[in-house]
Amino acid sequence: MEKREKLYEGKAKILYLTDDPELVIQYFKDDATAFNAQKKGSIHQKGIYNNRISSQLFQLLEKQGMATHFVEQMNDREMLVKKVDIMPIEVVARNRVAGSLAKRMGLAEGITLAHPILEFYYKRDDLGDPMINEDHIAVFELANKEEVAGIKKAALAVNEFLRDWFAEINISLVDFKLEYGRYGGQILLADEITPDGCRLWDMQTEEKLDKDRFRRDLGKIEEAYREVYKRICQKTGCIN
Ligand code: TMP
Repeated sequence: MEKREKLYEGKAKILYLTDDPELVIQYFKDDATAFNAQKKGSIHQKGIYNNRISSQLFQLLEKQGMATHFVEQMNDREMLVKKVDIMPIEVVARNRVAGSLAKRMGLAEGITLAHPILEFYYKRDDLGDPMINEDHIAVFELANKEEVAGIKKAALAVNEFLRDWFAEINISLVDFKLEYGRYGGQILLADEITPDGCRLWDMQTEEKLDKDRFRRDLGKIEEAYREVYKRICQKTGCIN
């Protein structure tokens, strides 16, 4: 696989073309942003841990028969993925109250929801990724009805699987963000699943093991990412 020119640079990742038009390389950076890039920083070795964590989790989902963009982890910071046309929708799945939901509903963080909540956000950095609903998605033609139904079903299935899987390594999957992409006639789970876009709390101590440590200046950020990877490896047998 030959690495070609840079296709796109985002806040935490860079995409490179390859000699195969169907495949791109996802390079994970240490850069961290929060609050729509108003807060900027760097987390030592975050890119390495995010690449490893995401690779492990996508492999687990693939084993469950879920369609993802994952092809292989190439090295410490690079993952080979299918070149999808990313949909302009961010899907957030929530199992417990936290973050913007706590604020919106005036509730304390940590309350377990009666059933998972799915939310949609319009993927537009210049607008601060505003929340949208299925009518917005339809009227503004961000996706068709069939695609939305497929994404909802797929996101709920990912949530159910990962919530139970994380519980076995003593981590509560509070909420997380997913992105989907079109690939031929298929819709694939794309982007990443990492502590950057998930809230992961230790089940006993409720200690935060995710990017909230950076957003809220809680310290021990790198340690948290490393701990998540360590626990994942305890279950999958990966080397940490
Ligand atoms: P929120 O509570 O701030 O809406 O975040 C919900 C989840 O989505 C949380 O796990 C973090 C993730 N997330 C992202 O991945 N990117 C974002 O831009 C935002 C706002 C949240």
